[in-house]
Amino acid sequence: MMLRQLTAVMTVAMTAAFCLHAQAQSVPAPSAASAWPVAPAPGLYQAFGEREGLRALMDDFVVRLKADARIGEQFRETNLDNLAKSLTEQLCQLSGGPCTYNGPDMKTAHAHLDITRAHFNALVEVLQQSMDAKGIPFTRQNQMLALLAPMHRDTITVR
Ligand code: HEM
Repeated sequence: MMLRQLTAVMTVAMTAAFCLHAQAQSVPAPSAASAWPVAPAPGLYQAFGEREGLRALMDDFVVRLKADARIGEQFRETNLDNLAKSLTEQLCQLSGGPCTYNGPDMKTAHAHLDITRAHFNALVEVLQQSMDAKGIPFTRQNQMLALLAPMHRDTITVR
């Protein structure tokens, strides 16, 4: 495994542990965007190019997801435009932007799917590919991944 992939996986794992303590701090209230109320790093939303940048990133991401040999099949019948729109609102809200994710919570959205830890890790890797392609700095990438990492609890359905 390449060093930066290892770093990202460690970030995800450490964040999951960190989040067990995060609720005691002064942080945003939980919402459907994330079951875990974690405050975003300052300037994160801006570093992703605000809503427009996030939408471009998600448009790239959903195409890669569907093309990925490990998880593409899961998105066979997915309307990619709707998914990109939903993800944009979610990441906008999570990263501190002026958006409200109005979709289903993560447990509900994934309950009917067979998602393993390997699938989850694959999705994180694909997101890294998209962030690389858009020139998002590595530190910012990890700050966004840190917000998404706790969602493994609600999106992994096969243990
Ligand atoms: C951090 C992890 C994840 C996040 C933040 C996330 C986020 C989302 C969001 C926002 C939606 C749309 C809900 C809606 O508007 O109805 C969705 C749907 C979906 N997700 Fe995830 N997801 C994650 C992990 C995964 C993984 C690991 C897989 C499988 C590899 C997966 C597969 C799907 C599928 C198949 C849908 C349904 C798309 C459809 O409507 O056809 N997700 N996810």
